[in-house]
Amino acid sequence: MTRQKMLVSGGLGFLGSEIAKNFFQEFDITIIDNLSTNVVSVDDLQAICGEISYRNMDLGKMSNEDIDWLNTELKDTTIFCHFAAAVGVKKIDQSPREAIINENRINHDLLPLLAKYKTKTIFASSSEVYGNQENCREDQGLQIGSPDILRWGYACNKLMTEFLLKSYQIPHIILRLFNVTGPEQSPKYGMVMPKMIRDAKKTGKITIYGDGSQTRSFCHISDLINSLRYLIERDSFLNQTINIGNDKNRVTIEELAHLIKDTLALNIKIEKIAFNDEYSSHSKDILKRSPNIEKLKQFYRPKIALRTIIEDIAKKYE
Ligand SMILES: NC(=O)c1ccc[n+]([C@@H]2O[C@H](COP(=O)([O-])OP(=O)(O)OC[C@H]3O[C@@H](n4cnc5c(N)ncnc54)[C@H](O)[C@@H]3O)[C@@H](O)[C@H]2O)c1
Repeated sequence: MTRQKMLVSGGLGFLGSEIAKNFFQEFDITIIDNLSTNVVSVDDLQAICGEISYRNMDLGKMSNEDIDWLNTELKDTTIFCHFAAAVGVKKIDQSPREAIINENRINHDLLPLLAKYKTKTIFASSSEVYGNQENCREDQGLQIGSPDILRWGYACNKLMTEFLLKSYQIPHIILRLFNVTGPEQSPKYGMVMPKMIRDAKKTGKITIYGDGSQTRSFCHISDLINSLRYLIERDSFLNQTINIGNDKNRVTIEELAHLIKDTLALNIKIEKIAFNDEYSSHSKDILKRSPNIEKLKQFYRPKIALRTIIEDIAKKYE
């Protein structure tokens, strides 16, 4: 029997590479990545997954040859996990225009091909589309902030892709991800959990940007993978949007800093600096963010508690 094919964009990044590691036994995996923020090399991933195919290509700057390749690839692809994007508050802050233009180009060139082959597409959207809201439900109104704060361009990018997937009638599942984290997440681009843990272990200091009262809910990568497994194997949530997060792991950033200190039994300093001492005036922190996961709970309950997440990530920095 021929095996089904899975194409993963951003497949050398944190989430994309975990998808490859967890699904290579069931699927023939092909990865697309432009190596801009990858956390793993092709060789290292192949050492774990065996024969995976890889194409170094920028989805925002596809050549005719790339488009021909994608046409051939999509003919027999069963699932396309679309996880490539410019990611991280820090990275968006450094080049907000580039992120918006890049995403527009990806939508312009990629989505018509997905529509042509009616490829089942799992799209990594973001909790950022909800803006400053708690207990966010998939069917509620969204709050995008003013364009004076260019950070909101990231949420607009994600929303635009959500709208286009629907208007092209591409069979899809939209995942709105709420702070999915794990040992392989890079601390480089402003991801709070790996950054705080790395800093605590390596420098003896955690820096909080702002007053620390901003809330986040952290979800372990294995909980994303388990929910994805269900969604990939069935069509029951086709053309729907699902929040992926862990509502039990909701903390303020100040609480998180202390929890890291206590969990890892470290004698460290916790200091606060103004958000805009670290980020430009184009960026503003999101103060509230937590998922309503009633829909997710119809088929999966996230399992990994916050302390376990911290311990798991800390092993990376031993
Ligand atoms: N981790 C989270 O909690 C979270 C939350 C919300 C949304 N997301 C979304 O999930 C996806 C994956 O995030 P991640 O945490 O794994 O980030 P990541 O930066 O580790 O992975 C993204 C990968 O995409 C690649 N890439 C970027 N632009 C590309 C392009 N134009 N063409 C080809 N490859 C490109 C990068 O090199 C990288 O390997 C992103 O779309 C992100 O917006 C993640």
